[in-house]
Amino acid sequence: MRVLEATGVALEWDVQHAGAATLEREGTVLPPRVVDSIRERGTALKGPISTPVGRGIRSANLELRELLGLHTGIRPCKAHGGVPTRFPETDFVVVRMLAGDLYAGIEYDRDDAATEPLRSLIAETGRAQLGDDVGISIKSISASGVHQVARTAFEYALATGRSQVTAVHKATVMPSTDGLFLASVREVGRREYPQVGLDDGLVDTVCHRLVTRPQELDVLVLPMLYGDIISDLGAGLIGGLGMAPGANVGDDCAVFEAVHGSAPRHTGHNSANPLALVLSGALLLHHVGEPEAGNRVERAVAAVVERGERVTADLKPGDERSSRWGTSDVADAVIAQLHAA
Ligand code: IPM
Ligand code: MN
Repeated sequence: MRVLEATGVALEWDVQHAGAATLEREGTVLPPRVVDSIRERGTALKGPISTPVGRGIRSANLELRELLGLHTGIRPCKAHGGVPTRFPETDFVVVRMLAGDLYAGIEYDRDDAATEPLRSLIAETGRAQLGDDVGISIKSISASGVHQVARTAFEYALATGRSQVTAVHKATVMPSTDGLFLASVREVGRREYPQVGLDDGLVDTVCHRLVTRPQELDVLVLPMLYGDIISDLGAGLIGGLGMAPGANVGDDCAVFEAVHGSAPRHTGHNSANPLALVLSGALLLHHVGEPEAGNRVERAVAAVVERGERVTADLKPGDERSSRWGTSDVADAVIAQLHAA
């Protein structure tokens, strides 16, 4: 918040709490007031929030996206000078679906009686060995959902001067879902964006390309699960999750958040790297029509990490001295850089 304010753009904040802390106080990880506030204002900067594992609570992150109709996640993976990476030329963007797929939560435990009809259906195919010890997750992909994410990817490519969109899939083994994904991206590309290059790749092959020649990739469009995995892979390529920002967009709202999740063990230590969230804030500035301020924040972050003096320990592996700089020191450094520029 301090960095964004330092740009001079007039921002009015409505701070709302969610996650594990509100679970204790209010009995929910996602109080309705949080969703209402974002809906009303249309734009949010969101910190990472935890969902307790194994307590039957649906991820607050998924729920929030669903309630707000956020259909597409945009996650730029660009290496910064000064951040150790084997691939300094990396500069691609993950554009990912934010609904359906194996994350829809349509799941059946191995002892769930409701799965009987499903099990017989699957047994009839004679392909899977489905005994009583099998858990089931249903994967779904909707053509209209793919059309939305594909349009967002092509529009993003046009707006940012990128020329090649790659659809990532495993249509060879999952024609009904990934095959539909690929066909639907192609439909949008051929019909509406013939001026943008479109190719595709199998997700395993794309992973190999990413860790050997990432500079060849430009805009990746993916279903939810592959997009989740490849965003973290991309963060690793550019020097870590501490540097990877994201935007979740829908037709009415947008929520900006880091690719990384929460790290409760860092709470209160002033040690976490704030730059992924600061860079998400820069994306927010672009989104609200303040591209100049967004660029200034990005340049200030680049200058601070390039100099490498005041960065958190994650950006200086093996260098003990750097660990004395904490979250607020990094913010101060970015703000000083903004004022100096
Ligand atoms: C992310 C997270 C979420 C996702 C989880 C919490 C459902 O991993 O934002 O990448 O996969 O979308
Ligand atoms: Mn993730």
